[in-house]
Amino acid sequence: MFRHPPPRGRRTVGLLATALVTLSAGLTAVASTHPAHADTATLGELAEAKGRYFGSATDNPELSDTRYTRILGSEFGQITVGNTMKWQYTEPSRGRFDYTAAEEVVDLAESNGQSVRGHTLVWHNQLPSWVDDVPAGELLGVMRNHITHEVDHFEGRLIHWDVVNEAFEEDGSRRRSVFQQKIGDSYIAEAFKAARAADPDAKLYYNDYNIEGIGPKSDAVYEMVKSFKAQGVPIDGVGMQAHLIAGQVPASLRQNIRRFADLGVDVALTELDIRMTLPRTAAKDARQATDYGAVVEACLAVSRCVGITLWDYTDKYSWVPSVFPGQGAALPWDENFAKKPAYHAIAAALDDGSPTPGGNCTATHRVTSRWQGGFTAEVTVENDHTAPITGWAVTWTLSDGQSVDHVWNGALTADGQNVTVRDAGYNGTLGVGGSTTFGFRGQGAADVPTDMACASGQPSRTPA
Ligand code: G3I
Repeated sequence: MFRHPPPRGRRTVGLLATALVTLSAGLTAVASTHPAHADTATLGELAEAKGRYFGSATDNPELSDTRYTRILGSEFGQITVGNTMKWQYTEPSRGRFDYTAAEEVVDLAESNGQSVRGHTLVWHNQLPSWVDDVPAGELLGVMRNHITHEVDHFEGRLIHWDVVNEAFEEDGSRRRSVFQQKIGDSYIAEAFKAARAADPDAKLYYNDYNIEGIGPKSDAVYEMVKSFKAQGVPIDGVGMQAHLIAGQVPASLRQNIRRFADLGVDVALTELDIRMTLPRTAAKDARQATDYGAVVEACLAVSRCVGITLWDYTDKYSWVPSVFPGQGAALPWDENFAKKPAYHAIAAALDDGSPTPGGNCTATHRVTSRWQGGFTAEVTVENDHTAPITGWAVTWTLSDGQSVDHVWNGALTADGQNVTVRDAGYNGTLGVGGSTTFGFRGQGAADVPTDMACASGQPSRTPA
């Protein structure tokens, strides 16, 4: 049986530096923190050094674009088949299976030493019309047969399967798909059982959008996963698609990832993109970069958040503009394959600026005043874990020319660009959901840190 190739070798990762990033498309230059080694270590390698993968979805028509495939094959440790594993392609008529297009992608990924996520077995969309016509009494058998055939076909070649995709509405009710209507609530559990029987090793995921923050939809998925775990239904992971909007990353993302992980499942961010209203500007790019960094940090904060996949990596092939007219520029590479500030923010977050696993707290930075050559800021530390924490430390990297000369309600240690503020003793214990603040005065530009991280207890990241 074929097993996906071992991860590629790591390269040494270093500290952060500041650089000017010149934007393409006639935009002005903006300052951005990014790793000094960004030109040598790939996102895949940086993530691997953290025990995660960083990947991209792709689709068959793009594979004839050699500029595209060069980056696809070198920058990422993981690939998701963006379209051609869907039912429409793999079983276009009842009982006739075709994996030609899907295999083209899997073969390419394997030749590049990349792992592959399978996407997706049971979905109401991109479903051939014949499935709608299957009599109610036969649909469970048809669904099981489809899953068994496809999972068996790719057995040993995929790390994950998105077994069921997008089965819930925004209010947390079940989507009235043909499977829901003709089989009933049990179809999701039955799908997972069939997938496990066909490949005992692939990790089995439920995948959905708008479940990144805590709300009615993610609550419903949470309750389903909890009941599956209680009943022994074989679910291994939850995929949060993460089709996000710049400036609107859910504040509860990290807490939400953690609550799923606490159920005993892995979490993956499976289709990440962060769109903006066009046209791009330097300010929007900066906002988007901060958001990408925050998303990566949220994943790194929870040890069971196993990886992140972009929903393709270049604006040239993004799905966004065709579905959301007037919006786009959602990916870290532009349509000419130039890296945007978002790329550097991802790299910085994947680098040493990330929090220690199990950080258990969040740190939110706010500039409170600024003047020529200096500023003050307030940082809110919140316990987002499910138990009280005793002691915390917040770390971040200063941009060039920045320094911190005074801290209140916290204890400062600094080494060059690396800053750590620990609790002041009297504000170190935080109950579940509790928060406290510390403040500091800085010299230099009032840049907002892109890598601020919080860890409870005795955090391992201390200045060298
Ligand atoms: O293959 C036909 C081609 O023959 C035809 O000429 C062309 C004309 O428009 O259409 C092609 O099919 C398109 C297909 O992508 C392949 O490119 C469909 O119209 C188009 O609707 C389809 O869109 C896909 C979409 O899922 C369908 O819902 C996107 O590429 C794909 O990126 C997107 O991916 C989904 C995930 O699976 C689930 N989560 C949301 C995500 C974004 O919508």
